[in-house]
Amino acid sequence: MDTLAILKRGPVMPVMVIQSVDEALQVTRALLDGGINTFEITLRTPAALDGVREMVKAFPDALIGVGTVRNADQLDAALQAGARFAVSPGLPAALLPALAANKVPFLPGVATPTEAMNAFDAGFAAQKLFPAEAVGGVPLLKSLHSPLPDIVFCPTGGIHAANAATYLALPNVACVGGSWLAPAELVKAGDWQGITTLAAGALAQAKQ
Ligand code: 3PG
Repeated sequence: MDTLAILKRGPVMPVMVIQSVDEALQVTRALLDGGINTFEITLRTPAALDGVREMVKAFPDALIGVGTVRNADQLDAALQAGARFAVSPGLPAALLPALAANKVPFLPGVATPTEAMNAFDAGFAAQKLFPAEAVGGVPLLKSLHSPLPDIVFCPTGGIHAANAATYLALPNVACVGGSWLAPAELVKAGDWQGITTLAAGALAQAKQ
Protein backbone atom coordinates (compact mmCIF):
# COMPACT_ATOMS: atom_id res chain seq x y z
CA MET A 1 0.00 0.00 0.00
CA ASP A 2 1.46 3.39 -0.90
CA THR A 3 1.16 6.52 1.20
CA LEU A 4 -1.70 7.98 -0.82
CA ALA A 5 -3.70 4.78 -0.44
CA ILE A 6 -3.15 5.00 3.32
CA LEU A 7 -4.43 8.58 3.40
CA LYS A 8 -7.47 7.55 1.39
CA ARG A 9 -8.47 4.84 3.87
CA GLY A 10 -10.34 7.48 5.82
CA PRO A 11 -10.89 11.22 5.74
CA VAL A 12 -9.59 11.71 9.28
CA MET A 13 -6.49 10.30 10.95
CA PRO A 14 -6.08 10.57 14.71
CA VAL A 15 -2.70 11.75 15.92
CA MET A 16 -2.29 9.96 19.25
CA VAL A 17 0.07 10.93 22.06
CA ILE A 18 -0.15 7.97 24.41
CA GLN A 19 0.84 7.82 28.07
CA SER A 20 0.54 4.05 28.55
CA VAL A 21 -0.08 0.84 26.64
CA ASP A 22 -3.44 0.40 28.29
CA GLU A 23 -4.46 3.90 27.26
CA ALA A 24 -3.33 3.21 23.67
CA LEU A 25 -5.49 0.09 23.52
CA GLN A 26 -8.54 1.77 25.02
CA VAL A 27 -8.32 4.82 22.74
CA THR A 28 -7.75 2.68 19.66
CA ARG A 29 -10.74 0.47 20.53
CA ALA A 30 -12.89 3.57 21.01
CA LEU A 31 -11.80 5.09 17.68
CA LEU A 32 -12.29 1.78 15.86
CA ASP A 33 -15.80 1.58 17.29
CA GLY A 34 -16.40 5.04 15.82
CA GLY A 35 -15.32 3.82 12.38
CA ILE A 36 -11.71 5.00 12.21
CA ASN A 37 -9.18 2.43 11.03
CA THR A 38 -5.90 4.29 10.46
CA PHE A 39 -3.85 5.63 13.36
CA GLU A 40 -0.73 7.72 13.87
CA ILE A 41 1.02 7.13 17.19
CA THR A 42 3.53 9.86 17.91
CA LEU A 43 6.98 8.96 19.21
CA ARG A 44 6.73 11.64 21.87
CA THR A 45 6.22 9.55 24.97
CA PRO A 46 8.14 6.64 26.52
CA ALA A 47 5.09 4.37 26.05
CA ALA A 48 4.81 4.97 22.30
CA LEU A 49 6.73 1.97 20.91
CA ASP A 50 5.26 -0.52 23.39
CA GLY A 51 1.87 0.93 22.55
CA VAL A 52 2.41 0.37 18.83
CA ARG A 53 3.58 -3.21 19.48
CA GLU A 54 0.47 -4.07 21.50
CA MET A 55 -1.93 -2.22 19.17
CA VAL A 56 -0.61 -4.17 16.20
CA LYS A 57 -1.23 -7.43 18.08
CA ALA A 58 -4.63 -6.47 19.45
CA PHE A 59 -6.08 -4.89 16.30
CA PRO A 60 -4.80 -6.72 13.22
CA ASP A 61 -7.30 -4.95 10.96
CA ALA A 62 -6.21 -1.48 12.02
CA LEU A 63 -3.43 0.27 10.13
CA ILE A 64 -0.98 1.54 12.72
CA GLY A 65 1.68 4.09 11.82
CA VAL A 66 4.12 6.15 13.80
CA GLY A 67 4.51 9.90 13.81
CA THR A 68 7.09 12.46 14.84
CA VAL A 69 9.81 10.32 13.23
CA ARG A 70 12.95 12.44 13.23
CA ASN A 71 15.79 10.02 12.53
CA ALA A 72 16.72 6.59 11.19
CA ASP A 73 16.94 4.97 14.62
CA GLN A 74 13.36 5.95 15.38
CA LEU A 75 12.24 4.65 12.02
CA ASP A 76 13.95 1.30 12.63
CA ALA A 77 12.46 0.99 16.12
CA ALA A 78 8.99 1.82 14.81
CA LEU A 79 9.21 -0.77 12.06
CA GLN A 80 10.41 -3.37 14.54
CA ALA A 81 7.41 -2.57 16.70
CA GLY A 82 5.17 -3.33 13.72
CA ALA A 83 4.36 0.13 12.37
CA ARG A 84 3.10 -0.02 8.79
CA PHE A 85 3.80 3.60 7.83
CA ALA A 86 5.67 6.59 9.17
CA VAL A 87 5.01 10.31 9.44
CA SER A 88 7.38 13.17 10.19
CA PRO A 89 6.93 16.88 10.85
CA GLY A 90 9.57 17.43 8.13
CA LEU A 91 11.91 15.64 5.75
CA PRO A 92 15.36 15.57 7.36
CA ALA A 93 18.10 14.57 4.89
CA ALA A 94 19.42 12.03 7.41
CA LEU A 95 16.20 10.02 7.04
CA LEU A 96 16.42 9.56 3.28
CA PRO A 97 18.79 6.55 3.18
CA ALA A 98 16.74 4.70 5.81
CA LEU A 99 13.53 5.44 3.90
CA ALA A 100 15.05 4.18 0.66
CA ALA A 101 16.34 1.04 2.36
CA ASN A 102 13.05 0.21 4.12
CA LYS A 103 10.56 1.19 1.42
CA VAL A 104 8.08 2.00 4.17
CA PRO A 105 5.18 4.28 3.21
CA PHE A 106 6.24 7.68 4.47
CA LEU A 107 4.43 10.98 4.88
CA PRO A 108 6.93 13.85 5.09
CA GLY A 109 6.00 17.16 6.64
CA VAL A 110 6.23 20.33 4.54
CA ALA A 111 5.32 23.94 5.19
CA THR A 112 6.39 25.84 2.04
CA PRO A 113 6.29 25.44 -1.76
CA THR A 114 10.04 24.74 -1.87
CA GLU A 115 9.74 22.02 0.76
CA ALA A 116 6.79 20.51 -1.10
CA MET A 117 8.77 20.45 -4.37
CA ASN A 118 11.84 18.97 -2.69
CA ALA A 119 9.76 16.27 -1.05
CA PHE A 120 8.04 15.53 -4.37
CA ASP A 121 11.41 15.21 -6.11
CA ALA A 122 12.54 12.84 -3.35
CA GLY A 123 9.61 10.59 -4.28
CA PHE A 124 6.90 11.79 -1.93
CA ALA A 125 3.81 13.00 -3.77
CA ALA A 126 1.65 12.67 -0.63
CA GLN A 127 2.70 15.11 2.07
CA LYS A 128 1.70 16.35 5.48
CA LEU A 129 1.15 20.11 5.57
CA PHE A 130 2.41 20.96 9.04
CA PRO A 131 1.59 22.88 11.12
CA ALA A 132 -1.33 23.48 8.80
CA GLU A 133 -3.21 26.29 10.49
CA ALA A 134 -0.04 28.14 11.50
CA VAL A 135 1.56 28.12 8.04
CA GLY A 136 -1.46 29.27 6.05
CA GLY A 137 -4.10 26.55 6.24
CA VAL A 138 -6.85 26.50 3.65
CA PRO A 139 -5.69 29.61 1.71
CA LEU A 140 -2.18 28.16 1.42
CA LEU A 141 -3.48 24.82 0.13
CA LYS A 142 -5.68 26.62 -2.40
CA SER A 143 -2.67 28.59 -3.59
CA LEU A 144 -0.48 25.47 -3.86
CA HIS A 145 -2.95 23.54 -5.97
CA SER A 146 -2.48 25.43 -9.21
CA PRO A 147 1.36 25.32 -9.39
CA LEU A 148 1.66 21.89 -7.72
CA PRO A 149 -1.43 19.96 -8.87
CA ASP A 150 0.25 16.57 -8.50
CA ILE A 151 0.92 16.94 -4.76
CA VAL A 152 -1.71 15.70 -2.30
CA PHE A 153 -1.76 16.80 1.31
CA CYS A 154 -2.80 15.59 4.72
CA PRO A 155 -2.94 18.83 6.72
CA THR A 156 -2.32 18.49 10.46
CA GLY A 157 -1.74 20.98 13.21
CA GLY A 158 -4.72 23.01 14.33
CA ILE A 159 -7.36 20.87 12.63
CA HIS A 160 -10.54 20.26 14.63
CA ALA A 161 -14.24 19.50 14.28
CA ALA A 162 -15.09 23.01 13.14
CA ASN A 163 -12.54 23.36 10.32
CA ALA A 164 -11.92 19.78 9.13
CA ALA A 165 -14.68 19.87 6.49
CA THR A 166 -13.31 23.04 4.91
CA TYR A 167 -9.95 21.32 4.41
CA LEU A 168 -11.53 18.11 3.13
CA ALA A 169 -13.43 20.05 0.46
CA LEU A 170 -10.15 21.04 -1.23
CA PRO A 171 -9.08 19.01 -4.29
CA ASN A 172 -5.52 18.58 -3.02
CA VAL A 173 -6.47 17.25 0.43
CA ALA A 174 -6.79 13.47 0.84
CA CYS A 175 -7.41 13.44 4.59
CA VAL A 176 -6.84 15.54 7.68
CA GLY A 177 -5.03 14.53 10.83
CA GLY A 178 -5.00 15.70 14.38
CA SER A 179 -5.23 15.16 18.07
CA TRP A 180 -8.77 16.51 18.37
CA LEU A 181 -10.16 13.01 17.76
CA ALA A 182 -8.69 11.73 21.03
CA PRO A 183 -8.57 14.82 23.24
CA ALA A 184 -6.49 14.64 26.41
CA GLU A 185 -9.46 15.54 28.63
CA LEU A 186 -11.56 12.60 27.38
CA VAL A 187 -8.59 10.22 27.59
CA LYS A 188 -7.82 11.38 31.13
CA ALA A 189 -11.43 10.89 32.14
CA GLY A 190 -11.53 7.42 30.53
CA ASP A 191 -14.48 8.62 28.45
CA TRP A 192 -14.06 6.01 25.70
CA GLN A 193 -17.68 6.37 24.59
CA GLY A 194 -17.06 10.10 24.17
CA ILE A 195 -14.12 9.33 21.85
CA THR A 196 -16.24 6.87 19.85
CA THR A 197 -18.94 9.53 19.46
CA LEU A 198 -16.36 12.10 18.38
CA ALA A 199 -14.89 9.74 15.79
CA ALA A 200 -18.27 8.77 14.37
CA GLY A 201 -19.27 12.44 14.21
CA ALA A 202 -16.05 13.40 12.41
CA LEU A 203 -16.57 10.67 9.80
CA ALA A 204 -20.21 11.59 9.28
CA GLN A 205 -19.29 15.24 8.83
CA ALA A 206 -16.48 14.37 6.42
CA LYS A 207 -18.82 12.39 4.21
CA GLN A 208 -21.23 15.31 3.75
C1 3PG B 1 0.91 16.38 14.67
O1 3PG B 1 1.71 15.85 15.38
O2 3PG B 1 0.64 16.03 13.54
C2 3PG B 1 0.25 17.57 15.21
O3 3PG B 1 0.90 18.00 16.34
C3 3PG B 1 -1.18 17.42 15.53
O4 3PG B 1 -1.56 18.69 15.77
P1 3PG B 1 -2.84 19.03 16.64
O5 3PG B 1 -2.53 18.63 18.04
O6 3PG B 1 -3.01 20.52 16.47
O7 3PG B 1 -3.99 18.27 16.06
